[in-house]
Amino acid sequence: MPVSVMLVGGARPNFMKLAPLFHAFRRSAMFQVSVVHTGQHYDQQMAGSFFAELGLPQPDIALSVGSGSHAVQTARILERFEEQLREHQPDMVVVVGDVNSTIACALAAAKFEYTDGRRPRIAHVEAGLRSFDRTMPEEVNRVLTDALADYLFVTEQAGVDNLRREGVADARIFLVGNVMIDTLLGQAEEAASRAAWRRFGLQPQSYAVATLHRPSNVDDPANLARLFSALETAADRLPIVFPVHPRTRSRLAAAGLAGSGTLFLCDPQPYTDFLSLLSGARVVLTDSGGIQEETTILRVPCLTLRENTERPITIERGTNRLIGIDPAVIVRELDAVLGQPMPRTAPPPLWDGAAAERIVAILEKAFAALQAARPAAAAVR
Ligand code: UD1
Repeated sequence: MPVSVMLVGGARPNFMKLAPLFHAFRRSAMFQVSVVHTGQHYDQQMAGSFFAELGLPQPDIALSVGSGSHAVQTARILERFEEQLREHQPDMVVVVGDVNSTIACALAAAKFEYTDGRRPRIAHVEAGLRSFDRTMPEEVNRVLTDALADYLFVTEQAGVDNLRREGVADARIFLVGNVMIDTLLGQAEEAASRAAWRRFGLQPQSYAVATLHRPSNVDDPANLARLFSALETAADRLPIVFPVHPRTRSRLAAAGLAGSGTLFLCDPQPYTDFLSLLSGARVVLTDSGGIQEETTILRVPCLTLRENTERPITIERGTNRLIGIDPAVIVRELDAVLGQPMPRTAPPPLWDGAAAERIVAILEKAFAALQAARPAAAAVR
């Protein structure tokens, strides 16, 4: 009997992590994989386009939960995902990243017991990252998901150290690299040849890319206004392409803020187009987690509009700087970066395009051991 795996995604940053995992599970003779889309993100630009672009099949299961407060969204996913566990009885649930879909599906699985006493095992991909800032919703999701998962797949050594400090047994921790970078490396050539900067009339290495979506930056009107004015000043130095997340779009509209001159606001971009924009950028200004990692691999300077990061390797490599949201500091740091050559840093260990393969190889061994120990009920904990 194949081991059945449910691969769960819900928000934009999840889909580029799911794709290499899906393909690696499909290549294994041991696993039968299905894809669950919780529907946390539902716009074509935030979710739909990623499936076609990354070679993911249409989801086998769509929970269609949509937007809501944290409690409402998490509760809807919990309820609807539990129904799927009951119906399909997967041997393993794989969750990625740190969004509400991640914790909700891990929690539903952790408390679920099938009628024959089996429980689904839980794998968390991108485990162990910590900003040590519990006011970030994602930090809460990370800590809780890691407390529940059986297999913790980690992207960088700091994540291993964090988990050990929290008392997680070494047997549950696996440093495997970064599945999001698997996808990036697979698409890098296509992204470069797409030259997405041309659509804005720009030349490579002569413009910046900006993104903003953290609630602490965009939901507070004063912070949003400060950041926007910093971007307007920065756009006098070099043109800025600013693909606008739906959360930010509604906050900017409410504040009456719009792009002008060389500050180009546009819709969220398809994955490969966005990667193309990043790869041609002279500098990136962002509050995203994933973009800090992508710029490290692309060797593009990244100015992170936050006080902390859960991804310290990006700082250690020298591509990323934490600069906060003071407009004077942002412009000063931008000027400093523009006066320096582009970084020439080596990629972090194991960020080599093979992380998903490593994860599946580890899980093959783990399930082979379980089946050998308990042939009749391979997934009993
Ligand atoms: C979520 C994640 C965040 C991740 C981000 C990437 C959590 C707690 N946060 O934040 O970690 O970095 O996704 O994008 O899970 N909306 C749309 N269309 C969509 C999705 C959302 O219009 O397809 C609007 C809705 O008004 C919604 C708002 O955007 O209320 C925010 O969406 P939500 O899923 O709550 O969180 P994000 O801010 O996207």
